[in-house]
Amino acid sequence: MIIYKTIEGLKNSLYKAKTQGKKIGFVPTMGALHTGHLSLLEISKKENDLTLCSIFINPSQFNNQDDFIKYPITTENDILLLEKISTDILFLPSLEEMNTLKSHASFNLDGMDQILEGLHRPGHFQGVCEIVEKLLRIIHPDFLYLGEKDFQQCLVLKKLITILQLDTKIKICPILRSPSGLALSSRNQRLSETGLLHAANIFKVLSNIKTQLTTGNWQTLKETSIKNLLNNGFEKVDYLEMCDTDSLQILDEAPEKREVVILIAAFIEGVRLIDNIKTTANILTN
Ligand code: PAJ
Repeated sequence: MIIYKTIEGLKNSLYKAKTQGKKIGFVPTMGALHTGHLSLLEISKKENDLTLCSIFINPSQFNNQDDFIKYPITTENDILLLEKISTDILFLPSLEEMNTLKSHASFNLDGMDQILEGLHRPGHFQGVCEIVEKLLRIIHPDFLYLGEKDFQQCLVLKKLITILQLDTKIKICPILRSPSGLALSSRNQRLSETGLLHAANIFKVLSNIKTQLTTGNWQTLKETSIKNLLNNGFEKVDYLEMCDTDSLQILDEAPEKREVVILIAAFIEGVRLIDNIKTTANILTN
C-alpha cells in the first residue's frame, strides 16, 4: 500500500493510473477502522482496478466539540488493517493540507440537511459535503463506496454529486453488525462492556419494529420503542422516525406496499449512536 499525505503526490499517482485506464474505487473514512469500513474496501477491490481509502477526521462536520475531541484515533492500527486487505492507496492528509483547498460556502440540499441528523447536528451535512467535495475533486473516482449505516449521509452525498455534476457513481453497501446486532461504529470504542450490551437494544428495537409494523400501528410502536430504549440503558433518544426511503420525508403512518426506513439516533454513556432498518408494513386487516 502506498500512503500519500499530500494532494499533489496523490494526484500525480492517480493521473498515471487513469491514463492506464484503471477504474478507481474510493472509500472515504475518518479512521478508527473496523470491519464495517473494511467491508466497503473489499467490495471496492472486487469492482475496481485500484482501491483508495482516505482517513481524515473532518472538524467541520462535528457540531459538538466534545465529540470531535473524543473521536478515536488509531492510525497505526488502521494502516495495518488496510495493508492486510491489500488496499492500494491510503490518502492521509493533515488539516493544513486539506485547508489549502477552498470549498463552497454552502450547498443547497433541498432541506435534506435540516431534518433528522441535520436537525440535531446543525451544520453537520454542510461539513460532510465540504470535505467530500474536496476529496472527489482531488480523486475523481469512478465509484464512491458508502455505508447504509449512515442512511441520510448516502442521500445527501447523492445530491452533492448531482449538484456538482460529477461522473462518480455511488455504491451503497450493507450495514455490518456485531453478533449482538449492534451496528459497527468507531464510536462503539467509547462504550463500557455494559454499555455495549445495552447498545445492542437499538437493533432489537429496530428488528421488533420490522416484524410488528402494520399500516395502522406506527405511533404506538414508536412510543413503546422509545420507552424500551430509555428503560434499557439509553439516556436520550434524539429521534426515532419512519421515513420515505428516497425523500426521507417523515411519515405518520406506514404506507401500503411501499418500503420505508426506520431511523434512530440515541445516546448511551454519553455516546451518540445511529442505526436504521428498511421494512414494508404488514397490511392491517379487520
Ligand atoms: P466514517 O464514520 O468513518 O465512515 C466511513 C464509511 O464507513 C461511511 O460510508 C459509513 O457509512 C461506513 N460505515 C460505518 N460503519 C459501518 C458499518 N457498520 N457497516 C457498513 N458501513 C459502515 O462517514 C464518515 O466517516 C464521514 O462522514 C465521511 C464520509 C468520511 C466524511 O468525512
